[in-house]
Amino acid sequence: MSAFVFETAPKIVCEQGAALKLGEIARGMGLQQVFLVTDDGLVKAGVTDGAVSALRQAGVAVHVFSEVLADPPEASVESAVARARSVQADGVIGLGGGSSMDTAKLVALLACTPQHLTEVYGVGLARGPRLPLIQIPTTAGTGSEVTPISIVTTPSHEKKGVVSPLLYPDVAVLDSLLTLGLPPAITAMTGVDAMVHAIEAFTSRHKKNPVSDALALQALQLLYQHIRTAVNDGRHADARERMLQGSLMAGMAFANAPVAAVHALAYPLGGHYHLPHGLSNSLVLAAVLRFNLPTAQSAYAQLGRAILPELHQSDDSTAAKGFVKAMSDLVAAMPYPQSLREAGIRQEDLPMLARDAMNVQRLLVNNPRDVTLDDALAIYQASF
Ligand SMILES: [Fe+2]
Repeated sequence: MSAFVFETAPKIVCEQGAALKLGEIARGMGLQQVFLVTDDGLVKAGVTDGAVSALRQAGVAVHVFSEVLADPPEASVESAVARARSVQADGVIGLGGGSSMDTAKLVALLACTPQHLTEVYGVGLARGPRLPLIQIPTTAGTGSEVTPISIVTTPSHEKKGVVSPLLYPDVAVLDSLLTLGLPPAITAMTGVDAMVHAIEAFTSRHKKNPVSDALALQALQLLYQHIRTAVNDGRHADARERMLQGSLMAGMAFANAPVAAVHALAYPLGGHYHLPHGLSNSLVLAAVLRFNLPTAQSAYAQLGRAILPELHQSDDSTAAKGFVKAMSDLVAAMPYPQSLREAGIRQEDLPMLARDAMNVQRLLVNNPRDVTLDDALAIYQASF
């Protein structure tokens, strides 16, 4: 570890009730016509109300686009871009989960450049400029508010990514009051996803760097300490706030030190069975950690000591095993399916899933231990 580059969003605002200050924030950025990208469920649940009225009270016109869909299809992104252009938006706000924030990134980018969506798929192809962008997560999981990536589903059901530093927002706003209504299962799935971001960033073989390491350690500590309270007592605003902070730090970490085998093996489960991303990660997590243990012992020992004070005096072997056990016990206590079988996966599909996972080489190369086709199959079998 020597030379490295670290990028992130320039400004983070974290405060309970921060959404009510959006008017002030937007005015401070000189915005007069903002385009707010969200989903219908959040509008109906009233989660967007405070933000919208705060903007209007500050004299900022708001155009609400609430047609964001999960796994945003190209057509939905394109219609949002067209709408933002037609109202001559001078700024974009993403308010929601990963899909809303991913759509907001592309609206901010494509509403003021001649480039078309299909021209910017890939790494570093967006030329910009983009409209000013504010991101407000309503789940503590994706970290999308501080990542330079947006994932879109093409008409042929392929997932394509736009990766560009232009997709970092100008401001990320964390307001835990917006997350109080999140049901326990979604809180758990998204929280575990964030924990996996921290773990995989910390053990990434590619682009591992000391800033991501520090953020990943702190993120995992916060998430481990507070996930049970957030799941079991959803109205606990402080636990929710710590989860948002953990998710943000894990996002900053993995935006610069990318994720690995847990995500690579999770993607085929999402692709073929439409399992939620966090659940897919959780289902393979324990088996991947056990698989990685021989090569990741020292890193897992450090993660173990970060979350469990009783491991401070332990040698690496004991601390690493303690870490794998602690994470396995944690996910086993979460309120959602605990095995691939329980999640509805067919045993005869495991070889096909393993072949698909091997196609996610861009992530597998970051894993601390090389993963072969047989290894991938064995991990799915152990998770079945
Ligand atoms: Fe993830």
